[in-house]
Amino acid sequence: MINVAVLGVSGRMGRCLVRTVREAPDLSLSGALASATSATLGRDAGDVAETGPVGVVVTADREAALAGADVAIDFTLPGATIANLEAAAKRRIPVVIGTTGLDEACHAAIRGLSHDLPVLVAPNMSLGVNLLFGLVAKASAALGEDYDIEILEAHHRNKVDAPSGTALRIGEIAAGARGRALGDVGIYSRAGQTGRRPRGAIGLAVLRGGDIVGEHRVLYAGTGESLEIAHRATDRMTFAYGAATAARWIIGRPPGLYGMADVLDV
Ligand SMILES: NC(=O)c1ccc[n+]([C@@H]2O[C@H](COP(=O)([O-])OP(=O)(O)OC[C@H]3O[C@@H](n4cnc5c(N)ncnc54)[C@H](OP(=O)(O)O)[C@@H]3O)[C@@H](O)[C@H]2O)c1
Repeated sequence: MINVAVLGVSGRMGRCLVRTVREAPDLSLSGALASATSATLGRDAGDVAETGPVGVVVTADREAALAGADVAIDFTLPGATIANLEAAAKRRIPVVIGTTGLDEACHAAIRGLSHDLPVLVAPNMSLGVNLLFGLVAKASAALGEDYDIEILEAHHRNKVDAPSGTALRIGEIAAGARGRALGDVGIYSRAGQTGRRPRGAIGLAVLRGGDIVGEHRVLYAGTGESLEIAHRATDRMTFAYGAATAARWIIGRPPGLYGMADVLDV
């Protein structure tokens, strides 16, 4: 049995993870972390996830949440993620990170800690999106800069970072396939007198509303034709299943920084 600590247990993703762990015959919930101000502190994590009691109480104490874990899965906020990773590193517990909105300082901290610990970071845990990443690399290289790339993402009204980590990853892959860096060619907003679209630019547009789980669309607009590659997530459980797959995979790996491409055969 694999003991899993769910970090961010009271959140939308955390609750899906508790359900996933409960359903899986090889996984067992060993710890459940929420913020120090969470309304769920002291409650049974299974009740929070509406799956019935599991005998694990939600805590804001990282040490308690990580005790006895074989692996930790983090879906929180960037500031919490780094503190969680540091606590896991002290206990040599591998970590799967799904949290998005990580800035360069966070990525640098993760890279540093991954010298001593297996860490997997994935802005999107779904099989479909990770397949889309490969398709984007192929299409962006094959179509070249005569085809303008525009990335559109849509998420629910409660999402706090934009563009989504997935949209940024798509942009990085598309730019990289053309020998460019997203930092040089990305356009994140357009309003007023923008002038003509620069050749080779990659546009990123964002929609927020309702309960949209996650949509990503990549448009290649050429002369006389356009191609679109699109993914639509309809249930957060797809990310939770992906995170559980990553958690099983990372146990016993050597220290290092991994991604979903290492886990999934795509
Ligand atoms: N990689 C993927 O496939 C994927 C898929 C979906 C979402 N995400 C990302 O995952 C993250 C979480 O998403 P969500 O929709 O589940 O968010 P959410 O509903 O807001 O949940 C956030 C969770 O983090 C906890 N938290 C916040 N600050 C904390 C702290 N300082 N210490 C410990 N716990 C803390 C919250 O606890 P309380 O609120 O109870 O205080 C809550 O349990 C976001 O970055 C989102 O973009 C990634």
